[in-house]
Amino acid sequence: MPTPAHHKARRRQFLAAIDTPVLLMAGGWIARNYPANWHPFRADSTFLFFFPEPEPNAAALFDPKDGSVTLFLDERTQADALWHGPVPGFADVKKAVGVTAVVARGELAAFVRKKCGKRTVRTIAIADPRATAEANAITGAEVDFHDAARVAHPDLVAAVAALRNHRTAEELAEMRRAAAVTREAHTLAMARTRTGIYEQELVGHVEGTFARHGCVPAYNTILSVRGEVLHNHAHGNLLHETDLVLLDAGAETASGYCADVTRTWPVGGRFSPEACDVYDVVLAAEQAAIEAVRPGVRYRDVHLLACRVLADGLAQLGLMHGDADELVASGAHAMFFPHGVGHLLGLDVHDMEAFGDRVAYAAGRKRSDQFGTAYLRLDLDLAPGMCVTIEPGVYFVPAILRDATFKKRFKGQVDFARAERYLTMNSLRGFGGIRIEDDVLCTDGGHEVLTAAVPKERVAIEALVGSGGS
Ligand code: GLY
Ligand code: MN
Ligand code: MN
Repeated sequence: MPTPAHHKARRRQFLAAIDTPVLLMAGGWIARNYPANWHPFRADSTFLFFFPEPEPNAAALFDPKDGSVTLFLDERTQADALWHGPVPGFADVKKAVGVTAVVARGELAAFVRKKCGKRTVRTIAIADPRATAEANAITGAEVDFHDAARVAHPDLVAAVAALRNHRTAEELAEMRRAAAVTREAHTLAMARTRTGIYEQELVGHVEGTFARHGCVPAYNTILSVRGEVLHNHAHGNLLHETDLVLLDAGAETASGYCADVTRTWPVGGRFSPEACDVYDVVLAAEQAAIEAVRPGVRYRDVHLLACRVLADGLAQLGLMHGDADELVASGAHAMFFPHGVGHLLGLDVHDMEAFGDRVAYAAGRKRSDQFGTAYLRLDLDLAPGMCVTIEPGVYFVPAILRDATFKKRFKGQVDFARAERYLTMNSLRGFGGIRIEDDVLCTDGGHEVLTAAVPKERVAIEALVGSGGS
């Protein structure tokens, strides 16, 4: 867990970067059916960035005029102590967290009005709609969480992003812990894989591992023999000996930092000859892209490099025809790799995605309108302290490979007849998809793969699958 000194330093940096007061909301409980039955509480990531273990309903006012940070917390009641257990009093929180003052939450609106007077007060929309509406009412802002262009004033977004995009040693320690727990979850799922069980059983091993370490899934676990469905959250399929399991799962530590890892393995413990070929193409693309991560490199170029390695490998397998540069320039590679090579990673699994391309794309850069590369979530120049995922894949998606428009557009570049064989192999269940994903920190000297300990060489995976595990 990052120390109070870490959070205090982050708050000081933020105060130095803003020129108006800023009101941040942690968010509150969100009901899952009736009002008193809640989803697990998870504070907004920007709030988590500045405060350890935020309480539901917490709010904070940063005032650059006097350098104060006021924390607002629900008043302590006997009923809360009875039902949810005692919590430290305001004086203890003030001392432990190191803020200027801790004030009762009920006084938030009046306090902001009195302290800020006629000055502009900015705020950031968060996932909790009630907290966002309240922040809008207090500040007069009109921020909207579901419209990236209106999540917050651009200067405020820039100030937050500059800090959140550069990880300190303490944050990296958390991300390494998330990576270690994620390694254990993936290797246990591989070890417990066997024919005749349902996907859900392996999900239990993955998420049970997270829970045993005090972590939660950083996002809804993807574990499926239908790996070609990119964000497949259903877990009802039976595992067949000749299926491939795709697991995309990452732990989130109690402090909110994430891992995001994908591995793919054969249920029966041996990759088929076709799966070996495709696996090696994906691995080569992943390794080439990882090797390219270093300061100053444009992330879109990392994406295009992965695309070229994939296109080249698929051409060697006879699934594509032509020169890799031309296949990528025309967008033909996206018939098999229809998404971007990755995204920022931090307190959000797609870090700061709510802020939109204002943060993820450098000034003057726009999303491609080409199918496939249009899904590239990031186009910044990499810098030390940034953490990104690298996650190429090859998928055999009926909706793409049987699409009449694509067939016409990429006739001669994509061997649709050969691809059709992959759609019908495996007793008509199809090949599915293979993705390999790691978390990569950009360092002064190049990069560090935070998730390097999760096995990904075919031989290592085959040795693990079905081995039992503890
Ligand atoms: N886990 C979602 C992704 O890899 O982007
Ligand atoms: Mn990812
Ligand atoms: Mn992932």
